Amino acid sequence: MKAQIESIKQAALAAVSAASDTQALGEVRVRYLGKSGEMTSLMKGLGALSKEERPEMGKVMNAARAEIEAALESKTAQVAQREKEERLALEKLDVTLPGRQPARGTLHPITRVREDIVRVFLGMGFEVAEGPEIESDLYNFQLLNVPKDHPARDMQDTFYVNDSYVLRTHTSPMQARMMTTRKPPIRVVIPGRVYRSDDDASHSPIFHQIEGLAIDKHITLGDLEGCLLAFAQQMFTKDTEIRLRPSYFPFTEPSVEVDVTCAICGGKGCRVCKGTGWVEILGAGVVNPAVLEMCGIDSTEYGGFAFGLGLERIAMIKYGIPNIKLFYENDVRFLKQFNGEVEK
Ligand code: PHE
Repeated sequence: MKAQIESIKQAALAAVSAASDTQALGEVRVRYLGKSGEMTSLMKGLGALSKEERPEMGKVMNAARAEIEAALESKTAQVAQREKEERLALEKLDVTLPGRQPARGTLHPITRVREDIVRVFLGMGFEVAEGPEIESDLYNFQLLNVPKDHPARDMQDTFYVNDSYVLRTHTSPMQARMMTTRKPPIRVVIPGRVYRSDDDASHSPIFHQIEGLAIDKHITLGDLEGCLLAFAQQMFTKDTEIRLRPSYFPFTEPSVEVDVTCAICGGKGCRVCKGTGWVEILGAGVVNPAVLEMCGIDSTEYGGFAFGLGLERIAMIKYGIPNIKLFYENDVRFLKQFNGEVEK
């Protein structure tokens, strides 16, 4: 029996030194010292020995068990220490490394130009409003003095939603919405998206406008001119000049188209202004008394001016952008060029 104990002990000690992780050590413990382990079953054999032999064998067996137990314990501590070191090495975190810069977006040039324009008019005492993009025929046309079958409807190639609704062809319906819901004085600018069935290098079926409306007593074409000159000088350069050319819109009378001296060449003539030194930026005029009356404003007491400008057009002039499609492709190489300081 002694020899058996010795051989089990040797096997157990060899298994302990071969085990390389906590799990393997656990298995060794079960195999040799567990309830039905090899040493335990040998112990059950003690009962068959003679009275004299039994204490002697018991002693040998306990010593062997204690030896295995001690080997297991010291190896377990050793393995646990190594496993802890490995885990620490794996989870090492260098808190002194600089952080990763998140990629920063930039304002779209149309957004920038819209904010710049709105800021100029806020400075002149205008407020800002917005309106629906699906607009009724009533506001988009009729209240603006464009009755059904009026030839002026041809000026704007309209997307019809159904017989009485359209995708608004301009932001001007907001003039009628403001005049029918507010009491004068009114000073408001209305930025928004507009739609026309039109598509080439300078026209897109979706584009952006800003509408302006001022209604008060004693407003003249001179007020319109002064207001737009102040705007142009803040938007472009402080020596920018403007000129008014006669035009026609059903909702303004008289109507004008407004040009500014070319921001690219300063008026000397270049590709952007096609050599003329002037570029058209907007349509405007004195609010037609017929529109005032349709919107419930007494035209003998009140008058006003209105203007509508295209944001893409202003951005193209201001930044010398040759094709309107560049605004919508969202090529980051294009957009990155407008990453100046974001003013608030
Ligand atoms: N709504 C006109 C257009 O889209 C512009 C305009 C607005 C003209 C206000 C006069 C007054 O072309």
